[in-house]
This record gives sequence, C-alpha cells and structure tokens, in this order.
Amino acid sequence: MGKLSPFFMPLLLVTLIFVPFLFYSINPLNPISRHVLLIKPPSPSISFPGYNDGILKECDLFEGHWVPDLHGSPYTNSSCTTIPDSKNCFRHGRSDTDFLNWRWKPKQCVLPRFDPNMFLEFAKGKKLGFVGDSVARNHMESLLCLLSKVETPKDEYKDSEDRKRIWYFPSHDFTLIILWTRFLVHGEERMINGSSSGTFDLYLNKIDEEWSKDLPVLDYVIISDAHWFFRPIYLHDRTGVVGCVYCNTPNVTDYGVGFALKLALRSALKHINNCKKCKARVTLVRTFSPSHFEDGAWNTGGRCNKTGPLSESEINLSSPEWELRSLQMEEIEKARKEGGKLRKRFGVLDVTRAMMMRPDGHPGEFWGNKWMKGYNDCVHWCMPGPIDVWNDFFMAILIREASFVSW
Ligand SMILES: *[C@@H]1O[C@H](CO)[C@@H](O)[C@H](O)[C@H]1NC(C)=O
Ligand SMILES: *[C@@H]1O[C@H](CO)[C@@H](O)[C@H](O)[C@H]1NC(C)=O
Ligand SMILES: *[C@@H]1O[C@H](CO)[C@@H](O)[C@H](O)[C@H]1NC(C)=O
Ligand SMILES: *[C@@H]1O[C@H](CO)[C@@H](O)[C@H](O)[C@H]1NC(C)=O
Ligand SMILES: *[C@@H]1O[C@H](CO)[C@@H](O)[C@H](O)[C@H]1NC(C)=O
Repeated sequence: MGKLSPFFMPLLLVTLIFVPFLFYSINPLNPISRHVLLIKPPSPSISFPGYNDGILKECDLFEGHWVPDLHGSPYTNSSCTTIPDSKNCFRHGRSDTDFLNWRWKPKQCVLPRFDPNMFLEFAKGKKLGFVGDSVARNHMESLLCLLSKVETPKDEYKDSEDRKRIWYFPSHDFTLIILWTRFLVHGEERMINGSSSGTFDLYLNKIDEEWSKDLPVLDYVIISDAHWFFRPIYLHDRTGVVGCVYCNTPNVTDYGVGFALKLALRSALKHINNCKKCKARVTLVRTFSPSHFEDGAWNTGGRCNKTGPLSESEINLSSPEWELRSLQMEEIEKARKEGGKLRKRFGVLDVTRAMMMRPDGHPGEFWGNKWMKGYNDCVHWCMPGPIDVWNDFFMAILIREASFVSW
C-alpha cells in the first residue's frame, strides 16, 4: 500500500483514481426497494413535448437495457470545444464508433434524448452545482457539450488547480459550477516525511468546505461520492477514530469502503437538509459509476477494449458496485424522508445499472496521457459516449420535479 506513488504530482490524481480498484470489498447490507424512490408525476396541466405519460408516471427510468439507435451522438469533438483532452477518445486514436449508436430504453417507457433548448428554458436564472470527484466533472462536461449546441458558455472562473470551475450561459442567465471534493466530508492526507502517504483522515462531522461554502447560492445540486474511498482511511467523529478502511491497524475496525462512503454521503445530505441559508431545493445523488478493468487492475495491465454494450443478463447484481449503489440509495431515502419535512427534495440519478452494461464507454488506452502510457483509463467516460445518458436522466427527473418545485 505504501508504494502507490510511482507517478508524481500531475499524475497523482489520476493514479489515485485507479487505486481503488485494487481494494474492493463488499458490504453485506440489504438493497432497498427501487420503488420507494420514484418521484411522483407532475400535475397533468403541465405539458412537456416529448415527455409522455409513461415517463412522467411510474416508469422506473433506470431499469432497462441498451437498444441500437443510429442517430449517433448529439455532439462531436468539433461541435463541442470544451471536451477535455483526456475524454476526447477519437482524438487519441479510438477508431470504433459503434459505441455511440445506442440509446437507453427503460422497461416501461421511452427516455427522450436531452433537449438543450428545453433544459435552458428550465434553467433560466438558476445555478446548478456538481459536487464530487473527477467523474462528477465528467458528467458536468457532458452537460456542457450538450448545451453548447444552443449557447456557447462563457468560461467564467477557474481556480489555480482547476478544481472549482464556473461556466455561464449569458442569454439564459444559467450558471454551471463544478465543486471538486474527494470525500464530501473533510479529509486530510497524512504526510510522511513531507510526502503524500496515500492515507487519509476523514472527519465525518465536518463537511468539506470546498463545496459547502458555495452551497448556499446553488438552486440545484448533483452530488456523488465514490472512487476516493478505496484507499486507507481513518474515520473520525467527534469522539475520535471510530473505524477505518484498509488501515490494518490494531484495535481499529476496518468497516470497508461501503461503510465510509455511506457515512460521508449521510453527513453531506444532512448538511444540505440542515442548511438554513441554502437555496438548494432539489438535490440529486448520482449513484456509483462502475469501472471496467478486465484481465488485471489499473496497474497490472487491466484494460477495457470492448466495442459494444452488455445485455441485462450479462451484468452481475451481486457485485460490489451494485452493493455500493444500494448503500447510496439507502442514504438518499433517509434524506428524502427528512427533507420532506423541511421542504427540500432529494432524488436519484441511478446510473449504476445502465453503466455496468457499458464496458465500451471508457477511454481505455485512448486518453492521451503521455506519462502513463500503457495504463488504461477504464474509470472515466469518452465524450461523446454513454455518459451522455446521465443528462437524459437528469432532464427527465427535472421534468418530474417540475410539478413540485417551480424553476
Ligand atoms: C476529432 O475526431 C477525429 C476522429 O473522429 C480526429 O481525427 C480529430 O483529431 C478530432 N479532432 C479534435 C479537434 O479533437
Ligand atoms: C523519515 O525520515 C527519517 C530521516 O530521513 C527516516 O529515518 C524515517 O524512517 C522516515 N520515516 C518514514 C516513515 O519514512
Ligand atoms: C488494544 O486494546 C487492548 C484492550 O483494550 C489493549 O490492551 C491494547 O494495548 C490495545 N493495543 C493497541 C495497539 O492500542
Ligand atoms: C482486446 O485486447 C486483447 C488483448 O490485446 C485482444 O486479444 C482483443 O482482441 C481485443 N478486443 C477487441 C475487441 O479489440
Ligand atoms: C457476481 O459477483 C459476486 C461478487 O463479486 C461473485 O461472487 C459472483 O461469482 C458473481 N457472479 C457471476 C455470475 O459472475
């Protein structure tokens, strides 16, 4: 575990993102019923072109499969100028394009493709924040590309490490913010003799200010946590160390990744619920985004070179990924119950199942990283690519929410 950093600063982030997959552990907690989480339909008086009854009613958007769709992707690397280099797979030599020709088909309804005009109408005058790690950022980048077909965003702010970033759509007065956080709660990396150790202390009763200080201005929040929890972590509450993940320390219980992830998410959602000066009335939790390393881990030659999706029967719902997603669902449900009393709404972008079927959607070797040649990125997602469906989901959820919350 000590030798996690053969790569240095610019690579550290990337490196750490992959490390998780060496240390997967399963937490044997029960999954919850999917149906509790469905958002109720809006009143029939509101009409949304393209969004039929099925989608607005009791259709579970997240249970389904991928079907061929020759319309391809809604944007390309020439129509969207903000695709980050590491996700611009075609630029780095990916030559198969079939992976673009699929759409998600929920079992009981049709999920419309993202409509940027309708979205920007909804979003007028609002601020949407993405809170999370580099995969949250990947999601934001997809939304940015989808929207840039209608309006070119202004690059309004970028901090020195490019962690917090603000994009602004002047003609719709819409602001998109990415707030980078590893753990949602406050985390500190242990330093050993002045260098990073890869071991973290997490303070479950202290929210990471990197995002919480900006929370009050946000109208809508999409929050996620995941990949940073797969490393040695000591969990603290007010009383001190209460457990760990991969710490291998006498007298400290290792509760596993799921436990840490769940408690951090719980703290974050509680914080949102208890934040009196926060505008945020709708919070969506994006569930675990699975990686697809095959024939090895990220650092032992693991790759992901499939060129098409899997079917429903080919994914494993007893897997650790699904377990993590179930833990997240439980926390969302708790926050939803609590939020109901406080006029705050919580929903879910339950992408896990759909993405488990997309081993073909990652950059793999085509991510253009000169320093890590030979390593495959099977964590993030190519753009364009299947990650764009996250925004189809988002749009559909927004429309469902529209009857409860005026935009
Ligand atoms: C766009 O993708 C094509 C392959 O489809 C690639 O040849 C080209 O370099 C890419 N252009 C940019 C600007 O990334
Ligand atoms: C820190 O550096 C000192 C002096 O170089 C060395 O003796 C010690 O073993 C180092 N500690 C760790 C944990 O690497
Ligand atoms: C672990 O706990 C036991 C019993 O409380 C104690 O005797 C022992 O010293 C502890 N070990 C460490 C390394 O703290
Ligand atoms: C994936 O890579 C392996 C090993 O290089 C190769 O045998 C296999 O044919 C590749 N699959 C595809 C679909 O390219
Ligand atoms: C599903 O995943 C679990 C946990 O990793 C494993 O024990 C089981 O063998 C897998 N099932 C299949 C069909 O691959």
